[in-house]
Amino acid sequence: GVKEPLLLTLEEVAKHNKKDDCWIVINNKVFNITSYLDFHPGGRAQLMRVAGKDGSALFYNTHAWVNVDAMLNKCLVGFLKSKQR
Ligand code: HEM
Repeated sequence: GVKEPLLLTLEEVAKHNKKDDCWIVINNKVFNITSYLDFHPGGRAQLMRVAGKDGSALFYNTHAWVNVDAMLNKCLVGFLKSKQR
């Protein structure tokens, strides 16, 4: 059948903030970027700044032209449950 999308809170995402278990939120999508860390042209340290957090602002400030949906399609975990501050 059709899979329900997984809805996550920022609290849940925040638990995945280590280099061997690393999630990031971009544009309300939650990606598991653990396997991408070593391939990022900007380096692992830049990604770890927003490990377990919403990295949208830094992402778009740095490279709005990068197609994150296409690149990390297979790393999609789910979506943020709602807008949270
Ligand atoms: C460069 C992907 C998140 C910082 C790049 C490039 C790609 C990429 C493809 C090369 C762009 C180009 O040369 O046109 C991604 C993906 C991200 C991500 C898929 C999502 C997980 C971030 C974040 C930061 C960041 C959160 C934090 C500031 C940088 C920097 C460069 C870069 C500084 C430039 C490296 C250089 O040219 O020396 N990234 N990025 N990236 N990224 Fe990211």
